[in-house]
Order: sequence, then structure tokens, then C-alpha cells
Amino acid sequence: MLRIAFVQLKPGTAKTTSAVWLAYAFHRRGRTVGLVDADPGASALEWSDQAGGFPFKVAGLPVKDFHRRADDLATDVVIGDIPQVEDHAQIARSAMRWADVVVLPVAPTGIELDRMSPMTQVLEEMEDLMRPGAQTCVLLNRVVSGAASGPSARRVLSRQGYDVLSTAIPRLEVFAQSFGAEPDRNTAYDQLATELLERAGK
Ligand SMILES: Nc1ncnc2c1ncn2[C@@H]1O[C@H](COP(=O)(O)OP(=O)(O)O)[C@@H](O)[C@H]1O
Ligand SMILES: [Mg+2]
Repeated sequence: MLRIAFVQLKPGTAKTTSAVWLAYAFHRRGRTVGLVDADPGASALEWSDQAGGFPFKVAGLPVKDFHRRADDLATDVVIGDIPQVEDHAQIARSAMRWADVVVLPVAPTGIELDRMSPMTQVLEEMEDLMRPGAQTCVLLNRVVSGAASGPSARRVLSRQGYDVLSTAIPRLEVFAQSFGAEPDRNTAYDQLATELLERAGK
């Protein structure tokens, strides 16, 4: 099983969008996928409803013992859409204990880069509670192609010691307008699925 959790301090950082697109990418390459919505806001569940259901397992689990229950889906890949740490610290911490890979989506903007320092603090506090061998990595997300901000954010975050994924998700209308719809094929999320499987050796 590969357990992936999208975690950030704040809402609006593309956690849900990333979780849903990545779940489709794994599903389309034949992996069994479970998407677990840990956010009391339930936007992944709402997305599934609007889309007429996802073609893989979806469950709502906005609970503080997420780490004990999220494996119940028993799929090859389980993706957690985790609520913002600032409002739902206990659920988010539970998810960080559970994950094999904690993915932090970050846009290359001053405000999101600044918010990485409180996030770093949370990660430090969680270090000993995480699964042995668990990885934490940054997913550059909402990156304007051709602009200097993407590569610059990659340098800044790498210098701070973050493991920045090679895959970056571009800022595109197709992602911005995707809520409630079925994701397209052949996007950066397919590269992300490949990169995460390679890292996990699966
Ligand atoms: N790659 C992207 N390009 C453009 N807009 C995006 C992208 N990813 C997400 N968004 C938009 O950013 C907003 C926040 O995304 P969402 O996934 O709901 O964040 P969160 O779950 O972290 O609150 C949404 O309006 C979404 O459509
Ligand atoms: Mg969300």
C-alpha cells in the first residue's frame, strides 16, 4: 500500500484538486485507489457527488484517529485529502502519522513561501511520530510556465532543506475549473503519479 497525504497549513493551496487529479491518474494506470476525504468541509466528497461518483473508492474520514482507520479501504494507493493544519490540527497530525508520503503543495508566491516556516515547525514536531521511512516533499503547484517564480521557489525551498518533487503542476484554467468534473488525461498529475511510484519503489 502507498499512502499519500496532501497537507498544508492553509486552505486554498490545491490539496483537494491535487488529491482528486492524482487519484484519477493512479486509477487510469490500473492501480486500485482509495480517496479519503479527511476535511470536515468535505469538498472531495462533494466533487465526487457532482461528478456522478468517482470510479474508485471514496470515503469521508474527518476524524482524529484517521491513522487507525484510513487503511480500511485496502487499495494499492490511498490518497488523503487532509484539512488545513491551522484549523484541524488533530486530524492533520493524525494523517501525518499515517502517511508514507506527506506532500505539501506550494505555489511559488511570497505568501505561500512565508507560510512554510510555521509548517516546518509542525513537521519538526511530528518527526518522531511519523512512520519509519516516511517522506515529506514539496509539490510546486500553480506554477506560471516561463516565469522566474517557479525555479526561484524551487531554489529557495531546496536551500531550506525541502525535498522538492521534480514534477511541478502548472497554473492552468483546466485545473482551476475542474471542481465537480472528471479530470483530463495526460497532465502533470500523471508525471506526479510516476514520480511518487518511483520514489516508493512500486
Ligand atoms: N494548478 C492549478 N491551476 C490553477 N488553479 C488551481 C490549480 N490547482 C488548484 N487551483 C484552484 O485553487 C483553488 C484552491 O484549490 P483547492 O484544491 O480547493 O484547495 P484546498 O483543498 O487546499 O483548499 C481552487 O479554486 C482551485 O480550482
Ligand atoms: Mg480542500
